[in-house]
Amino acid sequence: MTHNINKNIKKEYNNFSTLKKQKPEERRCLPCMKYKVELLTGIRPTGDLTVANYLGAIAPIVELQAQGVSPVVFVADLHAITDNEPATVRQYIHGVVADYIALGVDPRKAKIYLQSDIAGEVTTFTALLARLVSVAELLRVPTLKDKLKSNARPETANALLLLYPVLMAADILLNRAKKVPVGEDQLAHMEVTRMLARRFNKRYREIFPIPQVLQVKSLRILSLKGKGKMSKTNPGGAIFLTDDIKTVANKIKAAETAFEGVMNDKLESLVLIAKGLAKTESECEEVDAIIQAHMSGKRVMGQFKQILTRIAQNFLEEFQTKRVEILRDPSYIPSVLEEGSKVAKENAIETLSAVRRALQFD
Ligand code: TRP
Repeated sequence: MTHNINKNIKKEYNNFSTLKKQKPEERRCLPCMKYKVELLTGIRPTGDLTVANYLGAIAPIVELQAQGVSPVVFVADLHAITDNEPATVRQYIHGVVADYIALGVDPRKAKIYLQSDIAGEVTTFTALLARLVSVAELLRVPTLKDKLKSNARPETANALLLLYPVLMAADILLNRAKKVPVGEDQLAHMEVTRMLARRFNKRYREIFPIPQVLQVKSLRILSLKGKGKMSKTNPGGAIFLTDDIKTVANKIKAAETAFEGVMNDKLESLVLIAKGLAKTESECEEVDAIIQAHMSGKRVMGQFKQILTRIAQNFLEEFQTKRVEILRDPSYIPSVLEEGSKVAKENAIETLSAVRRALQFD
């Protein structure tokens, strides 16, 4: 039985290499397609963003946008439903777009679209890509392995979790994205994406430019207290973009620091937050000066926390005011998404039809 299956797979694979038998001019009909999108990122609409999300995923996009790059940002609602109820995910979509815009993603320069607005293309392509990877390979993806070790079991974990990296590859390859800024936690998924692009190119036709990971300066924002990274799962140690100024002050007051003269991971992370959220150069200098005093043995952590609190509060107040303004006009976000999705759809249709031609499945 297994033998037969293997034989069939082999036969199929032999068919894949028809490329070699084609005349050169035929091969030239479908050249390697060019990168279409310079910078692409997706965000799962699952509720409150933290300052770590901002510093890791959003700030780099805003910075590149200021340098003249037009980013494409999308709301990954199909990814979000792997571990959330679809009805809940729906409720967060407009809020996430408002977050992005309030944080500096400018819809006049960037395109923002909703993944499920091109669901037909994304899911069809996911199916076509999923054929190129085995169940065993997907089970070996470290993020899934970790999940199955910590909070999910193979018996109860839903199957979309297994397909998660393939769905992500579909987003990236449909857009023919060049650079994808991702945090450390998504590196394994990027490897799956690059591997699927190479396999497709090899077995069918060379149509995918290989996407690159944009490694944002290694940024490890830790939980303010306790173990691990800053994340929603440990709300006491996380600064949410929706926190009010009093909550922020209390969280920073309770944050772990270091003894005078000592630099550790926790303090380093607080310094990154302070400098990342600072609006002016002089605030950054203030932070540097206090840390210098700390390193020379002075007891200044109280003062440092005051500065950090002020910087964080200013940042959050400005963000929250902007966000309210953005959401005031109920037609604004739908119109931003409509425009973004129109472009995303055109790109997706173009790529998918090339894929179908390459597969002789058109
Ligand atoms: N998996 C990403 C996350 O959890 C979200 C995502 C989905 C994404 N598709 C993407 C990010 C494509 C970058 C590119 O953060």
